[in-house]
Amino acid sequence: MATAKRKHIVAGNWKMNKSYDEGRDLVKSIVENLQNTDVMVILCPPFIHLYNAHAKTNDMANLFIGAQNCHQEVSGAYTGEVSAEMVKSTGASFVILGHSERRAYYNETDELIGQKVKAALANGLQPIFCCGELLEVREAGKHEKLVEEQVKKALFDLDEVDIKKVVIAYEPVWAIGTGKTASPEQAQEMHHHIRQLVDKKYGKAVAEGMSILYGGSVKPANAKEIFAQPDVDGGLIGGASLKSADFLAIVDSF
Ligand code: PGA
Repeated sequence: MATAKRKHIVAGNWKMNKSYDEGRDLVKSIVENLQNTDVMVILCPPFIHLYNAHAKTNDMANLFIGAQNCHQEVSGAYTGEVSAEMVKSTGASFVILGHSERRAYYNETDELIGQKVKAALANGLQPIFCCGELLEVREAGKHEKLVEEQVKKALFDLDEVDIKKVVIAYEPVWAIGTGKTASPEQAQEMHHHIRQLVDKKYGKAVAEGMSILYGGSVKPANAKEIFAQPDVDGGLIGGASLKSADFLAIVDSF
């Protein structure tokens, strides 16, 4: 089990799912059924739900709201985009950045993600920074190197105050939405690698305090053994975050 020094986090990434009414019902069901827990629970719905989700969870000490993206610029003529300041104004505390779907479908580069990370931090949002390799990269044995580059390029020019606010989510792309999870050993190996990188750059205290989440087909049936790994501090949950019973069963896996 991960050390008590670090926060255990279970974050739900709803992706592009749930109408306004469906989202309101899902938040309500999670609020009503969440047991008293030390786990920090973060709901990351589409933008349209942020304000209501925050309003409904505001008085719950362990339940937070996050967005799934924000723009790197402060404001202006960027039709269809949402700034970090606008996300923050809904009451959200977190923002997922660098998800593999945004890297793949919207050509987000490590450099751009680094800019978004800074915009988020400048507006008081904590980034949930995603990294992870494609199957062919793992098969070529280059997964550690690739994740190392993603982490270094997007995060390692932050100062010590800001890096402490970042949550890292390791999500092997081949495990997202595919029903294939990384084995607990594969997750542990990469999480350990990431923590060592943070240690080398920022020192032991920062590395030991950083929550590193695993994402990719986490379900109630497999959460326990993944979360039992010493460097796995929680999960970023996609598909299974859309049903309150599944999501809460994952929270209960700690
Ligand atoms: P999944 O998605 O749990 O549906 O695999 C995880 C994610 O993409 O964050």
